Amino acid sequence: KKSNLFIDKHFKVAEVDKRIYGSFIEHLGRAVYGGIYQPESAFSDEQGFRTDVAKLITRLDVPVVRYPGGNFVSGYHWEDGVGPKDERPRKTDLAWNVIETNQFGLNEFMDWTKKANTEAMMAVNLGTRGVDDAKNIVEYCNLKGGTYYSDLRKKHGYQNPHDIKLWCLGNEMDGPWQMGHKTAPEYGRIAAEAGRIMKMVDPSIELVACGSSSLTIDTFGTWEDTVLSEAYDMIDYLSLHQYYGNQDNNTPDFLANTVAMDEFISSVVSICDAVKAKKRRHKNINLSFDEWNVWYHSHEQDQKLERWCEAPHQLEDIYNFEDALLVAGMMITMLMHADRVKIACLAQLVNVIAPIMTSDTGAWKQTIYYPFELISRYGRGTVLGTLSDAPCYESSHGDASYLDAVCIMDEEQSALTIFAVNKDLTDSMELSCDLRQFEGYQVKEHLVLTNPDLKAVNTEEHPDCVVPVKTQNAKVTDGILHALLCDKSFHVIRLE
Ligand code: AHR
Repeated sequence: KKSNLFIDKHFKVAEVDKRIYGSFIEHLGRAVYGGIYQPESAFSDEQGFRTDVAKLITRLDVPVVRYPGGNFVSGYHWEDGVGPKDERPRKTDLAWNVIETNQFGLNEFMDWTKKANTEAMMAVNLGTRGVDDAKNIVEYCNLKGGTYYSDLRKKHGYQNPHDIKLWCLGNEMDGPWQMGHKTAPEYGRIAAEAGRIMKMVDPSIELVACGSSSLTIDTFGTWEDTVLSEAYDMIDYLSLHQYYGNQDNNTPDFLANTVAMDEFISSVVSICDAVKAKKRRHKNINLSFDEWNVWYHSHEQDQKLERWCEAPHQLEDIYNFEDALLVAGMMITMLMHADRVKIACLAQLVNVIAPIMTSDTGAWKQTIYYPFELISRYGRGTVLGTLSDAPCYESSHGDASYLDAVCIMDEEQSALTIFAVNKDLTDSMELSCDLRQFEGYQVKEHLVLTNPDLKAVNTEEHPDCVVPVKTQNAKVTDGILHALLCDKSFHVIRLE
């Protein structure tokens, strides 16, 4: 097959907001306990943080990590997780039917973010709690001192404020599974009021309101419209969540989910802008795609879990090669919308639907680690409008191109990077791109992630089954890039 990419260095979509490479740690399964925190592990430092895990996270260069949930936050009392550890209560976590020991909480998380070279995106409980609690936690975290909650933080050993800049107003409040779930008008009001009061405490914070918990939930659309109508002036971002699965073992259709994701983003942008127009506002509401990934491998296993254990193996999807292709495609899709998608969180980061897995004997990288690592590392700069002309196939999401591709220009480094997925399972694809505007640019590196087996996985024993390798299938001749994309593959073509 043959394809063409058309770019123009003056046709810029937007500067990439680095927070598009965010991730997520929830109190769920072994994400916290046995994931990032395991005091009894030989790999842990004096605070109990797994250093082997932090090292792998640092390589992903994740600028922001959403915490503490997810569904968990909708029943959480953050006060349970601060202060002397031997006084912290054991509680039921009704989101995941387990026991929460509270041995890791807000202050430990903030210490951990520094070691993992990241920043917090903190969620407040708008399920079982409300405006007052949202005010108190901002006061605890962000005020210098001289008030009850800021002095409490000092008493807990944290003299300086945590100064958390990004806050989520609850989680998936439209979902009937959510503790304290709400109708759209109910949520719109509480989000607006909680947001207003939180910004009274610290006007420098930014706020993310809950959009729909997926595109497929019945209330999608009207939910966004109502919530925005209530809370437009108080919030900065609206959230999107979406997980995909290949339950039907139909890989072309699975990979075509990028079409659905693209439409999802465009639809939410349209609703934000419709409300903007109705309200005659100048400010845009941007998007926070703060839960996205593949999630389905562990569904059956998780049905068998016993209630009220601590940190069980839960949502531990083992990712295969085709999952890595879709993860690359989803990241490319979000980058194409970099003008409005400013924040995104790969859900999640460690053990729970995650790129990083741990055991008592080490930590290793799942297949999806690699597209995330490469795109996070090389996808900084300006997204160029990237027009792909490639053959299409029919899918349940409509016509899907065999090619997902985006170009990122880094003017400071005089570099251009092309990320591309060839979704064709049997044919290679010749890709051309006119680069005469980029005089003298040559291919510096061509990396490819491919595997003959779509279901190949990485394990602790065999961690290197699916890894990117260098190849030399791209060349610039007379200003035109010619690259050969082998069947079922993800490519990073770096030009300088
Ligand atoms: O990421 C796992 C769960 O998926 C989160 O807790 C919830 O927000 C979503 O439904």
